[in-house]
Amino acid sequence: MKGQAHSTGSGQAGEISIRNAGIAFLASDRVVEAVRDISVEFGPGSFTTLLGPSGCGKSSLLGAIAGFVSLTQGVILVDQRPVHRPDGSRGVVFQHHNLFPWKTVRGNVEFGLKMRGIRKTERQRPVDEILDRVKLSTFQHSYPGHLSGGMQQRVNLARVLVNRPTVMMLDEPFAALDAQTRLQMQEMLLELWNGLKMTIVFVTHDVDEAVLLSDRVLVMSRRPGRIRADFEVPLARPRAADQLTSTEFNRLKKYCLELLREESLAEEGMTEGEPAAIQEPEFTNRLG
Ligand SMILES: Nc1ncnc2c1ncn2[C@@H]1O[C@H](COP(=O)(O)OP(=O)(O)OP(=O)(O)O)[C@@H](O)[C@H]1O
Ligand SMILES: [Mg+2]
Repeated sequence: MKGQAHSTGSGQAGEISIRNAGIAFLASDRVVEAVRDISVEFGPGSFTTLLGPSGCGKSSLLGAIAGFVSLTQGVILVDQRPVHRPDGSRGVVFQHHNLFPWKTVRGNVEFGLKMRGIRKTERQRPVDEILDRVKLSTFQHSYPGHLSGGMQQRVNLARVLVNRPTVMMLDEPFAALDAQTRLQMQEMLLELWNGLKMTIVFVTHDVDEAVLLSDRVLVMSRRPGRIRADFEVPLARPRAADQLTSTEFNRLKKYCLELLREESLAEEGMTEGEPAAIQEPEFTNRLG
C-alpha cells in the first residue's frame, strides 16, 4: 500500500479526549447499558481501530464522538471543546451509503457545502479536489445507481471529506464489499488519511483490516463495552500486503482473535470460572 509517510505534526487539530464515558439507552421498559466508563485519548492525525463483539457499543461510541448519540456519563472533548451535536468537522461514514439517488456524484459531494451556504463559485474547487482524490472525476456526472458498490462508497467518503473534517469516523465502511474492492478501498483510505491529515477512528469486525490499517487497536469487552486491550501496531509504514503474512502481524492478529473469542464465549455463557490467561505481546497493551 502506498502513500503513508505519516506524521502527527504539533498544532494539528483533531485531538479526541474521551473521559469516563458511559452510554445507556432506554429500550421499551429497560435500560440497555451500551458502554461503561471509557477513558481514552486519540492524538491528532492518529488512526485507531475499535474491535469488539457485536453489541458491545462500538457504533454507540462513534456516534457519541460524532455528536448524534448522547453520553449518559462523562464527556468527550475534541480539540478541548465538548461535543454536543454533529458538526462537519467530525465526519462519519457508515457501511451503507446514504447518497441521494436523484443527484449526480458531483451533486452529492457538493450538497454539504451548499447547505452550509457556500456560494456556487466557491464550491467548485473543493469538490474538484476531493473527486480527484477519490478518483471519481470522470464519473462526476453519473448517478449513484449506475456505480459499483466500491464507487458508491468512494462518493460517500468524498461527501464527508469535502467538509475537510479534522476527525473522521468509519463504521464498518467496507464490510459489504468484495475482497478485492475492500483491499483497494483500504489502500485509498490510507492515501486519503495521509494526504488530508485527519484523525481516524475506525470500526471493523475484520482483524486483518484492523491490524493492517491502524496505528493502534482497542479491543472492547462484551456489553457494557469497556476497553479490554489497547495496543500500538508496530508495523512499518507504508504498509504493504506482504505484511499480512509476517510473524509480527500474525502475533497481533492471534492476540486480537483470542480476546474476541473469549469475550464472545463469555457473552454466550460458554466459559466456566476465570477466563484463561491470554498471552499478551509484551510490547503492546497500554493498559499494562
Ligand atoms: N438507539 C438505541 N436504542 C436502544 N438500544 C440501542 C440503541 N442503539 C444501540 N442500542 C443497544 O446498545 C448496544 C450497543 O449497540 P451498538 O450498535 O453500539 O453495538 P456495536 O458494537 O456497534 O454492535 P455491532 O458490532 O453489531 O455493530 C446494543 O445492545 C444495542 O442493541
Ligand atoms: Mg455497530
